Amino acid sequence: TVLVVDFGAQYAQLIARRVREARVYSEVVPSTMPVDEMLAKNPKAIILSGGPSSVYAEGAPGIDRALFEAGVPVFGMCYGFQLMAQTLGGTVDNTGRREYGGTPLTVTRPGSTLFEGTPAEQSVWMSHGDACSAAPEGFTVTASTDGVPVAAFEDDERKLYGVQYHPEVAHTTYGQQILEHFLYRGAGLKPTWTAANVVEEQVAAIRAQIGTKRAICGLSGGVDSAVAAALVQKAIGDRLTCVYVDHGLMRKGESEQVEKDFVASTGVRLKVVDAEKRFLDALAGVSDPEEKRKIIGREFIRVFEQAASEIVAEAGRGDDAVEFLVQGTLYPDVVESGGGTGTANIKSHHNVGGLPEDLTFKLVEPLRKLFKDEVRMVGQELGLPEEIVHRQPFPGPGLGIRIVGEVTKERLDLLREADAIAREELTAAGLDRDIWQCPVVLLADVRSVGVQGDGRTYGHPIVLRPVSSEDAMTADWSRLPYDVLARISTRITNEVPEVNRVVLDVTSKPPGTIEWE
Ligand code: XMP
Repeated sequence: TVLVVDFGAQYAQLIARRVREARVYSEVVPSTMPVDEMLAKNPKAIILSGGPSSVYAEGAPGIDRALFEAGVPVFGMCYGFQLMAQTLGGTVDNTGRREYGGTPLTVTRPGSTLFEGTPAEQSVWMSHGDACSAAPEGFTVTASTDGVPVAAFEDDERKLYGVQYHPEVAHTTYGQQILEHFLYRGAGLKPTWTAANVVEEQVAAIRAQIGTKRAICGLSGGVDSAVAAALVQKAIGDRLTCVYVDHGLMRKGESEQVEKDFVASTGVRLKVVDAEKRFLDALAGVSDPEEKRKIIGREFIRVFEQAASEIVAEAGRGDDAVEFLVQGTLYPDVVESGGGTGTANIKSHHNVGGLPEDLTFKLVEPLRKLFKDEVRMVGQELGLPEEIVHRQPFPGPGLGIRIVGEVTKERLDLLREADAIAREELTAAGLDRDIWQCPVVLLADVRSVGVQGDGRTYGHPIVLRPVSSEDAMTADWSRLPYDVLARISTRITNEVPEVNRVVLDVTSKPPGTIEWE
């Protein structure tokens, strides 16, 4: 494991991803974790992330010197670099001058561990106020910029490395290479973290956890639950039953697709539960997003409990109760629900924070440490069909969190039509792989005046939210071609009564989240 110590900006997640792209397993830990606890994880290398603080600021997060003395290779980036410099006796000045954005870097030791094989002049992404003017004893300065005399340093003896900039962002031209140099050359790691290894490891872990018991897995039609189910099926075979809960919040054609694509390719045992009335009754009168998420999470579990007892009854034996519930929870879900590194709770993803407290199942979450693109790789490795592996994400709470306002059957039907049109046109334009996903949102409590034929209308707006993203942690709004947007808009306003306006969401994440609720 490579530990990425999070100093409180959004960079740590990205660094962890980049390390995994180098085929080395990595995990994010908070900077508040005591160093002996970090070392107890037996890390093969440690990376100190950037962060928003100045090392001089009151209460700025620090790091115990012991971290640098444990014989574990360490790579400090930006704030992590300054902290390393300061802790080990170098000089960090509060220059009062910010260096921000693309900056030319001059490599002064071209053959160094980090810089070997990269050009003497390269563009790097900077974002800092303080600057290091003298490296600690034992370090060699390996690069500088106009504003910063010590922009990178290395101590091969102690295996300590640092750069003032952000190698993890795409704007740093040789960033990935420098990170890989640290991992392979500095820390001596091998690129062994592959989809095949993940499958092997997880199958063993699942077998150890479930033993000879039974499990059920909720299928949503999305890639996560499909891959989780396929992994568990590989581990325990027929002792897994998949449950597809038709909660009435699905998109058009979704239910049919689950049966067609997934069951056909895996031969998994499937139980379909029609629970539309149950969910809609529970959601009646509720418009608060968090409350909706919690209700949906709770009802899911209640349905699973019922399904589990039916499965046991059908099996006709008393001794093999269903003890385990498989969920396709991903690493970003864990982090965003506040369960990862002490990050703020942004929203209760229904399969993490939305679970009821009296849960009787034990959870099996084989994807809990994976990012989305890694899940797709694992799906491919397991031989799942393209239609599943490359499906765009769709949230478990479904259209329930895409109706801003109370969820009713009429509103769902209306949104289903608008969503189907948008999806049809995006597919026809060949854009499915270009965009990450395109939530279609109904502003049910908003009305605006329109004119159609000769008459005044007073209808609801539909919001299109096409985004591009690498892992849903951050996202940008997709610049879709105007003619595609025009076709979607014309068709929705013509074909969906009650909708007289289509608007485009042009907000990145942050500050907006991908879904509206
Ligand atoms: P946000 O809205 O948090 O979404 O930017 C990030 C990604 O997660 C999906 N999402 C969910 N997926 N259960 C899920 O399985 C949920 O409760 C949930 N909420 C959001 C969302 O579609 C996007 O891909």
